[in-house]
Amino acid sequence: MRVIFVGPPGSGKGTQATLLCQRFGLAHISTGDVLRESVHLRTPGGLLAEPYLSTGRLVPDDVVNALVADLFRAPSRPESFVMDGYPRTLAQAVAFDEMLHEHGLDVTGVLLFQLGDELIVRRLSGRWICPNATCNATYHVYNRPPRVPGRCDLCGTALLQREDDKEETIRRRLEVYHENTAGLIDHYRAQKLVREVSADGTIEDVYARVVKVLDKLKPRR
Ligand code: AP5
Repeated sequence: MRVIFVGPPGSGKGTQATLLCQRFGLAHISTGDVLRESVHLRTPGGLLAEPYLSTGRLVPDDVVNALVADLFRAPSRPESFVMDGYPRTLAQAVAFDEMLHEHGLDVTGVLLFQLGDELIVRRLSGRWICPNATCNATYHVYNRPPRVPGRCDLCGTALLQREDDKEETIRRRLEVYHENTAGLIDHYRAQKLVREVSADGTIEDVYARVVKVLDKLKPRR
């Protein structure tokens, strides 16, 4: 199964991708996590990406496309995966199609998460993340609190709030999402790959919807 998650920031893409990948043994590819790790490690790509992430703007297409192409060029190239936050523009979708085609792969489906802007602001302002790159667990102060306040349940690392989860930056990220998504979705609708999923309700409710939608998708090859 090769699935792309598209949805506004805070709609639960990362939460659902983690659950799905654990259950079905898929690779979870989050360009946001990869970019945050490069910023943390102060790599050349991270230094270039940092001002975009901190202000809620998209990192240039060629930088993100190269990052994803590197992952697929590696001998450990994933065959079954959930793409969480990539592609995010029409140019990225076209580059991703070409890259998958070169490797003899295609996309099984594109899940479009739907959630209103005000709920998103509430969800993101309560989010805490584990900064340990091998963990990346996500919590919420009310909806998914850690067992020990401020500590990751899985690895014990001190939890952090993301730099871009301030209300002003969240609103900027939402604008960027709305500006870029129409062309992206039209591209995948033309391939009959898009399935809409309401991201409202509990994490378990949304997960049940995701699994139901995926059950109906047939792998093309
Ligand atoms: P990225 O990390 O991809 O962020 P995003 O798309 O803005 O999405 P989020 O991670 O904020 O939210 P999510 O939908 O995963 O929600 P989550 O599950 O965490 O990108 C960050 C930045 O990197 C971008 O702004 C850009 O600069 C750059 N970037 C990344 N990819 C790029 C690309 N392809 N091109 C260019 N630039 C790129 O849930 C949110 C909170 O809600 C959590 O606290 C969670 O516990 C809680 N929650 C989840 N589900 C529920 C539920 N059902 N009910 C209640 N609470 C819930």
